[in-house]
Amino acid sequence: MKYYNPVKISFDTICGEELSKLSGIGKKRLIFCYDGFEKTGTFSTITDGGENDLVITDVEENPSIQSIDKFLKSAHNFKPEIIIAIGGGSVIDTAKVVRFGLYLNRSSVKELLEGGVTRISGEKPLLITVPTTHGTGSEVTMWATVWDKVENKKYSVSDIENYPDHALYDHRLFSTLPMSVSVSSTLDALSHSFEALWNKNSNPVSDHFAFESIKLIIKYIDDLNDPVPADVRKGLILASMYAGLAFSNTKTAAAHSISYPLTLNYGIPHGIACSMPLFPLLKINSKGMVDKLDRLFMNCEVKSPEELEKKIKAAVKGKVPFSLEEFGVKENELEGLVGQSFTKERMANNIIELDSGDVRKILGDIYK
Ligand SMILES: [Fe+2]
Repeated sequence: MKYYNPVKISFDTICGEELSKLSGIGKKRLIFCYDGFEKTGTFSTITDGGENDLVITDVEENPSIQSIDKFLKSAHNFKPEIIIAIGGGSVIDTAKVVRFGLYLNRSSVKELLEGGVTRISGEKPLLITVPTTHGTGSEVTMWATVWDKVENKKYSVSDIENYPDHALYDHRLFSTLPMSVSVSSTLDALSHSFEALWNKNSNPVSDHFAFESIKLIIKYIDDLNDPVPADVRKGLILASMYAGLAFSNTKTAAAHSISYPLTLNYGIPHGIACSMPLFPLLKINSKGMVDKLDRLFMNCEVKSPEELEKKIKAAVKGKVPFSLEEFGVKENELEGLVGQSFTKERMANNIIELDSGDVRKILGDIYK
């Protein structure tokens, strides 16, 4: 059994204070943050707007390779010693790809994807990630998801050298998170945990993190109402971090594979797209993880997959849509989605091998 994760974690920290300790004085810093963060009080504790800081706020949702190319070019010109990413998965993934592009001295994402991992440069800026949603897990993983929106394709930039150096968690940064994003990111973390458990690469350490994550999500998801109490927010941030630590070593599996065309074709938020298939998948995958089921059901406080589905649907009702029909998918389009649902390296991780018939049934099950 091997488990590896080199990211240094500061939990329940004050972002501004921790960043100034880690950044040093006079270092050139490239700061990616979500649009609007520059108007917050925390932003002014991080940067004084001097020439040593280059701030980028126009990161794309589900970042396209074309948008990242633009940032990579600026980064090559600026030559940062430190890269800071403050935001959700899109911001963190963008920063990871830019840092990796600098490290390998690539001028575009396509070059990065096609060029393998030949080390050219050796200069690797320190990467500090500060998540502001509790679902992505990207702050503790070695991959970044990027999208070619011209060719309608999703890619993963993944390498052992692509782990961030530090992940900082400050619950104060989540206070303005819209409820729909709070819910969908929690569901993303839930999906990462389940996918780590029913994964061919699972091991006792990843299982432990996944079980703990699920326990916390089930404990707190019903209390996710505005204003979100600090203990609920901290519990869900911790759950997301545990989920990240779990799937950082297993990668995802069938639920994420099925989610990609749902996001690409219908714009279904990632956390919803990858969590709707969890319940039909639990029924299928149960036979491949018999030894984990008792602990799983105990942590979810249920006795069956049906009971779990009812529980999660009740918790998210009125906060986010949770069926394909509600996102405008037509029933006669399901067949066409089946082929697109097979991302080979994700599907191959699933503990039970799925065929087209299985996937068509799953899509039918999550339609209404
Ligand atoms: Fe995910």
